[in-house]
Amino acid sequence: MVLSEQFRPLSLALTEEHEMLLTAVRDFAQREIAPVAAEYDESGEFPLDTVRKMGEMGLMGIEMPERYGGAGMDTLAHVLTMIEIAKADASHSTILSVNNSLYCNGILWFGTETQKREWISPVASGEEIGAYSLTEPMSGSDAGNMASRATLNDAGSHYLINGRKSWVTSAPFADRIVLFTMTAAEDKHRGITCFLIDTSQPGFSRGKTEPKLGIRASATSEIIFDDYACPVENVLGGVGQGFKIAMTVLDAGRIGIAAQALGIAEAAYEAALIYAREREAFGAPIGNYQMIQQKIADMKTRIEAGRALIYQAVIAKERALASGGRYTSEASMAKLFCSEAAAYVTDEALQIHGGMGYSKEMPLERYYRDARITRIYEGTSEIQRMVIARKELGLR
Ligand code: CAA
Repeated sequence: MVLSEQFRPLSLALTEEHEMLLTAVRDFAQREIAPVAAEYDESGEFPLDTVRKMGEMGLMGIEMPERYGGAGMDTLAHVLTMIEIAKADASHSTILSVNNSLYCNGILWFGTETQKREWISPVASGEEIGAYSLTEPMSGSDAGNMASRATLNDAGSHYLINGRKSWVTSAPFADRIVLFTMTAAEDKHRGITCFLIDTSQPGFSRGKTEPKLGIRASATSEIIFDDYACPVENVLGGVGQGFKIAMTVLDAGRIGIAAQALGIAEAAYEAALIYAREREAFGAPIGNYQMIQQKIADMKTRIEAGRALIYQAVIAKERALASGGRYTSEASMAKLFCSEAAAYVTDEALQIHGGMGYSKEMPLERYYRDARITRIYEGTSEIQRMVIARKELGLR
């Protein structure tokens, strides 16, 4: 497997290109996304207009080479973008994350040249939307245990895919999906194969959209395969390689979710800081009181510790892309810590706001709800702890 096509720098110093990207994304996110975030959260509508604009800015395929329709940037650029978009609205950052990390990366790293040209370009450019489908109704954390099946036809030209997949982010609007399903159940995880799915083909349908606690504008649904005929050319990375592809892609995805969690936490923290300066009680701004100061100090410390873990994971990923190896544990530590920090920070920021934090007139309750998913998707906190501990104990 070739993980990189070009040399990638290991430094985390922001280049001029990063600075320009950061300014442009921050400006766009605050001008175009933040003002509509509450409305989309309330309606649960998929924000197609602003998603298209993210595509026009090159944000839907940040790390994809330009020849495949992407922006040709690096992991640091991806992380900076995720933080800024999540600060404005977590739902948008979820859509962005799945498109970039879970859909595009797998094809870039495991696809043939033809697959890269056909399957990355329309999605990295933002014209079409990509999704990733691993989970099933009866297998979430135990990702290797699947009930869906793909069977090769007698002519050897197509796989017939049957079964249901669940919790597929962006599925209601996805044009293309990276799908993991069993081609040889007796081989357990080594019998899983990855397929490139065109959702306009017969045999593919969508189940109901999930009503969710948070990230309500990022549509999530079941997808159903009923004798979907997938050409053998659309097998990604070889028969039986699906589990490795799924896990490799999730390592990158988890850094993105860590960045998303950090962005949500920063948004809540900054709101709390303003409120602590402005709100008065007992004749003084509440920020003058030690109990509020303790919260501010603990929130800020967790945010900066989370950023350090993200940067450590970014360096580990760039190193792996340049010279091989894995960054599984670094990605898991960043996701685990940042998602739990986001829970803490959004809770404390809401508390500092008192009753106003509980009201839908302010964004605190949305930050609090949106942060919750980061401890669940792309591997629960429990799974991240398992991954980290297994490596420490030499169990894998
Ligand atoms: N990179 C590359 N290979 C990996 C890997 C990684 N990160 N992790 C495991 N593998 C390989 C192992 O080396 C092993 O290879 P061999 O077959 O050669 O031995 C193989 O995969 C099996 O590994 P394990 O024995 O460790 O597998 P396991 O069954 O014990 O499971 C797990 C490991 C870490 C628990 C994994 O199942 C897991 O991450 N589960 C959580 C799944 C998850 O994150 N789901 C979320 C899906 S996406 C989503 O949230 C929806 C969305 O749309 C956003």
